[in-house]
Amino acid sequence: MNTHPPMAKETATDAPADAAVAALPTQAAAIMDGISALAAKLPFPVTVACAIRPLSLNSLSQIEHAYLRDLGSGPRRKQWRLGRAALARLFAANRPPPGSAGTPQQAQWSLCHTDDLAIAVATTERDLAIGVDIEAPPGPSERSRRLFLSDREQRWLGMLSASTRQSATNRLWALKEAAYKSVSVPQTVVLKDFRLRTACLEHGVADCAAAPGASCFYLTDDVAGTAVALAYCRLQADAAPGPIAKKA
Ligand SMILES: CC(C)(COP(=O)(O)OP(=O)(O)OC[C@H]1O[C@@H](n2cnc3c(N)ncnc32)[C@H](O)[C@@H]1OP(=O)(O)O)[C@@H](O)C(=O)NCCC(=O)NCCS
Repeated sequence: MNTHPPMAKETATDAPADAAVAALPTQAAAIMDGISALAAKLPFPVTVACAIRPLSLNSLSQIEHAYLRDLGSGPRRKQWRLGRAALARLFAANRPPPGSAGTPQQAQWSLCHTDDLAIAVATTERDLAIGVDIEAPPGPSERSRRLFLSDREQRWLGMLSASTRQSATNRLWALKEAAYKSVSVPQTVVLKDFRLRTACLEHGVADCAAAPGASCFYLTDDVAGTAVALAYCRLQADAAPGPIAKKA
């Protein structure tokens, strides 16, 4: 059963993103523009929405209220409500249920957030799954590079000048997170499983070493130090559910 939620009419067609960008702080607007520019390069339509204010408590559904209660009192609450606000721009009241990201039924949208900004993307292409990520400075530490980069990718980073290395690291992180969101279920795949075919940050293909045949196309950019990335993979209609279930 396809449970992809219908997009809110006003955002799917007239995308109020431009109006939203006008009111955004400069860096948030630049990031929104950066993601929109990447989306425009994809060979299928993608709607992009952002939020800088959490969705109001009054607008949350009962299920969302219950989910929020379980999040406790930390910063995650605000981030999660920011994400809900971005999803509300895409789907209005038909936004996908909390916790459904990464499930096979919810492949055609993706979300990322910082403390102050959430970006959501969605496509109506039902044979594709997409992922989005942003990585603000300082990004992953030197130590954590070993955890998400292959030896080859670490060697490649090592050859870069110190001034470009941090930006490249952040872009690698963002693209792997976007790739992860577009193909995997969390318990079975880690970021390190995604291997770039070529040492190219702008665009390319990342293969998931843990799931032969699971590859995704990615695009990244550096927006004033913040890495932005989009990824998508083509769904296989015959993909059998298994330890690594591709979204279908
Ligand atoms: C799941 C993961 C991508 C979330 O990333 P994050 O930086 O914590 O948060 P982001 O703002 O980028 O994205 C959050 C959103 O991702 C989405 N998400 C979570 N799990 C997902 C999945 N399996 N597939 C697709 N989207 C997913 C959710 O919409 C979430 O929003 P929410 O607040 O409404 O729940 C991250 O935990 C991860 O990278 N896991 C991979 C495991 C791994 O390799 N860890 C080692 C790193 S060294």
